[in-house]
Amino acid sequence: MKILITGGAGFMGSNFIKYIMAKHSDWQVVNLDKLTYAGNLENLAEVSQNKNYAFIKGDIANKEDVARAIGEGVDKIINYAAETHVDRSILEPDAFIKTDVFGTYTLLEAARKYNVAQYIQISTDEVFGSIKEGSFDEQSPFEPNSPYSASKAGADHLCRAYFKTYNLPVIITHSCNFYGPNQYPEKLIPLFVTNLLEGKKVPVYGQGQQMREWIFTQDHCKAVEAIMEKGQLGEVYNIGTGYEKTNMEITKFILQELGCGEEMIEYVKDRPGHDWRYAINSKKLRGLGWQPESSWEEGLRRTINWYKENEAWWKKIKSGEYLEYYKKQYGK
Ligand code: NAD
Ligand code: DAU
Repeated sequence: MKILITGGAGFMGSNFIKYIMAKHSDWQVVNLDKLTYAGNLENLAEVSQNKNYAFIKGDIANKEDVARAIGEGVDKIINYAAETHVDRSILEPDAFIKTDVFGTYTLLEAARKYNVAQYIQISTDEVFGSIKEGSFDEQSPFEPNSPYSASKAGADHLCRAYFKTYNLPVIITHSCNFYGPNQYPEKLIPLFVTNLLEGKKVPVYGQGQQMREWIFTQDHCKAVEAIMEKGQLGEVYNIGTGYEKTNMEITKFILQELGCGEEMIEYVKDRPGHDWRYAINSKKLRGLGWQPESSWEEGLRRTINWYKENEAWWKKIKSGEYLEYYKKQYGK
């Protein structure tokens, strides 16, 4: 088996490469990644010397780069590559359209040309928009509210169209929020943990009452593995755990784990168009035999410990380009 993983130097892509290579020592894995600010080859140190692993630096929106990564052919493509941070999409949407929409189109065209047997699009619950009560299922209409979620929704529509029109063997996943080791410290959990480890306050948007559903890295890797093995072509699978938390619940848990008090909270201006709540129904995926294994508390404690033990990893990141972005985001 030879698989192409795009965006494999990012948070979840790198976790998936390490997970799948440990399980299938005979699989060949090609990682195509542009190495944007979010891509970090240090995430892959433990597989980089493996003879079955190859890294290609390139852009999913560039067909020559994609052809170079596919080489003589691959059996499967899993597209993790994307611009992923909602706040960055509000400040500068351009790269989101180029990578998330045009990049997905370029990969779909390549999958068609090279007769790939399975193409998995890693997408998000954000395409459904916000929901006050209940949960979204796979048939819920798309109502994206940020340039990020709109670009992911555009990509998902293209995937569906390529299945319907060309019979391309596509599967789409919609996942809730990921958390775990190696997440870039611009997202809520790693930002708050690393700020507190540096003695800085944590910026809570609005009153922190928005809700998200959370999945630990390893549980997401296992969900994608189940879909690769048992998912039906042309189908869509929601990946959710039922672990719903308000931002304030998360903040207080992290403060307590790190021995900090609520004076470390700084209430800041709310995110424009901020989605109130995401929640998805993952019954269909559970029908494939998958269920989350990490409890919410266990996953979050493991994550906090990872950041405590890997200061060198995030301290290097929290400088340079990161500081410029942080200044733009918070105006200071
Ligand atoms: P990330 O931001 O940590 O990493 C993205 C990776 O993609 C980086 O390595 C980056 O260099 C690479 N990349 C960006 N543009 C590229 C391009 N044009 N060509 C090639 N590579 C490029 O991402 P993540 O948070 O691990 O998310 C991975 C995927 O999962 C994304 O598609 C995202 O939309 C989706 N998703 C994320 C979450 C979440 O909570 N983070 C939840 C649901 C779905
Ligand atoms: O739901 C899946 C999505 O989850 C993914 O598709 C996205 O790629 C991923 O970034 C994530 O989007 P969110 O906007 O939910 O994640 P983020 O970590 O940016 O924010 C989580 C919540 O915390 C959200 O309600 C905003 C709030 N927040 C975030 C930051 C960065 C704060 O209050 N303060 C902050 O500094």
